[in-house]
Amino acid sequence: MHRKNYIRNLKKEILELKEKRNAVILAHNYQRPEIQDIADVLGDSITLSLKAKDTNKDVIIYCGVDVQADIAKILNPEKIVLLPDINAKCPMALMLYLDDLKKAKKNNPRSETLLYTNTPTVMKAYGDCLTTSANITEVAGRMKTDTIVWASDIHMADYVAEKSGKKVIPISEEVVCPVHNQLSLEDLISAMEKYPTAEVLAHPECLSEIRKRARHLASTEGILRYCQQSDMKEFIIATENGLLYRLKKEIPNKEFYPASETAICTAMKGITLERLRDSLKEMKYQIEIPRYILDKARKAIEKSGW
Ligand code: 13P
Ligand code: SF4
Repeated sequence: MHRKNYIRNLKKEILELKEKRNAVILAHNYQRPEIQDIADVLGDSITLSLKAKDTNKDVIIYCGVDVQADIAKILNPEKIVLLPDINAKCPMALMLYLDDLKKAKKNNPRSETLLYTNTPTVMKAYGDCLTTSANITEVAGRMKTDTIVWASDIHMADYVAEKSGKKVIPISEEVVCPVHNQLSLEDLISAMEKYPTAEVLAHPECLSEIRKRARHLASTEGILRYCQQSDMKEFIIATENGLLYRLKKEIPNKEFYPASETAICTAMKGITLERLRDSLKEMKYQIEIPRYILDKARKAIEKSGW
């Protein structure tokens, strides 16, 4: 009871502060249940970016990782964008180095460069186009060159090459999302044996052996839409497990099972109600991006057709 009162008061405080600051709370589908519950908008990277672009609020609280909050700031340089947890840094983005990107561009002078949203801020000034998992096939398709230099996850590189028919050159062969990369075929097969009538849905950051067994590959929002529209009643979900909370809440008449119990992104889970409250109270941690990066990244987004 004591805990319940504490949470109720905390939520009330957050809602009051949100009013006072004229803020909107955006939360990624991988966020903790309590953050999903208090958010104004839930979504994948692109949904949240587009919502950030459209908002008339003064402050955007981005409950996700730093590199995604960057995009909200790039699209709204005049607004305050807050990331409630200073340590919410995408571990995959931390595997990417600007020198590798510069080298790959130099070695492939006739190729355009495609960057994933989950790349470090500084790199965002060096891409011809910028993409999320939801629009990657279309963005790659609209690029002028048949060979593309790619900065981010190597499994996404395979995925976009398969889908677009283009040659995709990753700037490093070592970059993976640790959450999707640890999701093994053994885990998936044991889930499939346990739930033989369930359909498998996967995020394109998964290994190729997982992608091959999936009925449908999509961003987190794409997975949600597929489950809403499908006639099937049971699904095995191969992505970060935060999405299952939203699926179960919004589609209560169907069953959802994780492909792996351990697919959890700790960077995403660092945002708590307390940190959200403190963020609104103290207006921290503000996303700041040097103007030259911001302008170039915005041009890359515009060129990508978002
Ligand atoms: P979405 O593009 O589906 O939001 O995925 C983002 C992400 O962090 C994948 O791991
Ligand atoms: Fe980064 Fe993977 Fe976490 Fe997404 S799930 S934020 S790509 S580490």
